[in-house]
Amino acid sequence: GQRMRNQKIHTTYPNDINRLNAPFLTMFESLIPPNEEKVKQKQLLTVLEKLVSKEYPEARLFLYGSCANSFGFSKSDIDVCLAMELQNVDKSDILLKLADIFESNNLQNVQALTRARVPIVKLMDPVTGISCDICINNVLAVVNTKLLRDYAQIDERLRQLVFIVKHWAKSRQVNETYHGTLSSYAYVLMCIHFLQQRRPAILPCLQGMETTYFANVDNVECAYFDQVEKLHNYGSRNGESIAQLVWAFFHYWAYCHDYANDVISVRTGRTLSKRAKDWTRRVGNDRHLICIEDPFEVSHDLGRVVDKFSIRVLREEFERAAQIMHCDSNPCVTLFEPY
Ligand code: CTP
Ligand code: MG
Repeated sequence: GQRMRNQKIHTTYPNDINRLNAPFLTMFESLIPPNEEKVKQKQLLTVLEKLVSKEYPEARLFLYGSCANSFGFSKSDIDVCLAMELQNVDKSDILLKLADIFESNNLQNVQALTRARVPIVKLMDPVTGISCDICINNVLAVVNTKLLRDYAQIDERLRQLVFIVKHWAKSRQVNETYHGTLSSYAYVLMCIHFLQQRRPAILPCLQGMETTYFANVDNVECAYFDQVEKLHNYGSRNGESIAQLVWAFFHYWAYCHDYANDVISVRTGRTLSKRAKDWTRRVGNDRHLICIEDPFEVSHDLGRVVDKFSIRVLREEFERAAQIMHCDSNPCVTLFEPY
């Protein structure tokens, strides 16, 4: 079907916006994984640790991605990173070796994808029913997972907003990087940036504060303030409700973001200019049509997967969502209608 386009732009919330708080919160609650699921994930990690350490005693396993950043839906797969020294050994050989080990220990659907952009072993554990991807030495992903989880602990509205935005993006098929739309990781950064920009701010800029956490990963320095328990009142001067924030989030991406000139940057807590980052023209396949700076790998634009077709799809979906939040009689249904 046709994605709709509508030109009317509103500048502030409709006055009955808060009727949407209860249904949005109910939706959020229904998407959170129950505690049993978290227990099963830990259980599987322990099983994998035992199997891996028999062959590689010095290797360590870490959870990353949505199972560890607090933005994971119920029934998601888990992402695992195996950290180990590689001296003149090929990653592919290790992945194949791991696949062997898992297969002979009753794990199902074991597959080594050695030629993928991020090479992994996939498997399914028949005991817990959980599927899992294991990569090697993707330590930056473990560190950016911690950053996201730390942000989530500062103000509960971040987690609520991300769940609603992710649910919207999955329903509307704009969470598919292989089709030129954005990763969940990119959507989380968009939500953090958005809450850093509210006035009064709902989130601080952790990388702009005193360093209490430091890691040097593949020559990238990761430093920020991680004592977030000291910040749990940070956003309390801003009383905006979840319904108001969902309205404003879509309004921002539909009508306020300067796609031609701006880069959103969680690292600095503000927007930067594309010119300053030299992201003004296409280089190879990177087109920079929507610019989202990675908080640690600052030369990495998470919008680089977006092309001239998918940018239209994305912007029309933001406009559709903004219109629905403003005028629709039942946004909690219409917003998430499958595309
Ligand atoms: N990641 C990254 N750089 C990217 C994409 C992802 O570093 N360009 C890392 C991040 O640590 C992210 C993890 O890979 O948390 C998983 O990415 P993604 O699948 O986009 O996010 P999830 O949070 O796992 O979302 P979903 O629930 O959709 O699986
Ligand atoms: Mg994932």
